[in-house]
Amino acid sequence: MPNFNITVINGDGIGPEIVPQAVNVLGVIGEKFGHTFNFENVLMGGCAIDEFGEPLPQATIDACLSSDSVLLGSIGGLRWESLPGNERPEVGLLGLRSAMKLYANIRPAMLFQPLKSACPLREDIAERGIDMVFARELTGGIYFGERGRNGDVAFDTEKYSVSEVRRIAKVAFETAMVRRKKVTSIDKANVLDSSRLWREVTSEVAKDYPQVELEHMLVDNAAMQLVKDPSQFDVILANNIFGDILSDEAAMITGSIGMLASASLGDTKVGLYEPIHGSAPDIAGKNLANPIATILSAAMMLKYSFGLTAESAAIENAVNAVLESGARTADIKDESTTEVVGTVEMGELIIAELRK
Ligand code: IPM
Ligand code: MN
Repeated sequence: MPNFNITVINGDGIGPEIVPQAVNVLGVIGEKFGHTFNFENVLMGGCAIDEFGEPLPQATIDACLSSDSVLLGSIGGLRWESLPGNERPEVGLLGLRSAMKLYANIRPAMLFQPLKSACPLREDIAERGIDMVFARELTGGIYFGERGRNGDVAFDTEKYSVSEVRRIAKVAFETAMVRRKKVTSIDKANVLDSSRLWREVTSEVAKDYPQVELEHMLVDNAAMQLVKDPSQFDVILANNIFGDILSDEAAMITGSIGMLASASLGDTKVGLYEPIHGSAPDIAGKNLANPIATILSAAMMLKYSFGLTAESAAIENAVNAVLESGARTADIKDESTTEVVGTVEMGELIIAELRK
């Protein structure tokens, strides 16, 4: 019987509410399909600052590196907002991505059919469909470049090497191969040298994927095109900062940021799985948060890290069935809602569906 060791990081804000729901779902999948999932909880982010005085204790890194994958809720909150830049909860997340060498952030953004009315775009635009996936570079660029502050002057450096661009470009093309075979590569090549390199390398990688169409798009235009006609996008390939910004925009146009999952991967099967949304301190501790993005992140873990595609699909189908039934958490309430439920209840409904 296969055995999988999962490191669990609840994190801050709504994290401790949503992650246990995903852990419960994995438990039921284990029972149903005959796998054993072992969970080890560790601290990262604001809660680790409170407990150990640092956002990313070495023990957390060690636990993550020695496990089969990591499930993360969300980190950060007002309490830690006034800390110096290099001591904030976010440093924990960036440090973990870097320590685990997770250079590829996969963020699918799609319109869930039962939630069509949540899309804030005009109906005729939404009708064309929204179904894209981001391949965002995650361990380079301005997030990790040299930075500093000198009195009235501060700077951050955007820097990419050929090999860094090549490996994330490959992930984008591989993803496109099993989708609609189009890659839109985002840059600011009309201004930035790092973007000119980005364009050069992605064009080079494209030669290995003749079936895939490659399009280069300037980031400002991409911001516009995402609201003008999101149906044109299949795979969006972007550097760390552009991918961060555009994936939030894409999540918003689906109207369901509480629904969207993500995977961060490197060259091994050990990944980090987390919802796209933040720690939502305003609704923390109230049983209001939507656990679906975290539950779908767990489904991504089954598929990408463990190769358990049927198990992953079972979770996605259960989520869809619950949405079809009209049950919603408050964030996705609409006119077809028959019942507004809390975090725990949503988890229980999905589990009940899985047990059917
Ligand atoms: C994200 C977040 C992080 C990022 C923050 C919390 C450091 O916004 O995962 O998109 O900018 O990468
Ligand atoms: Mn972000």
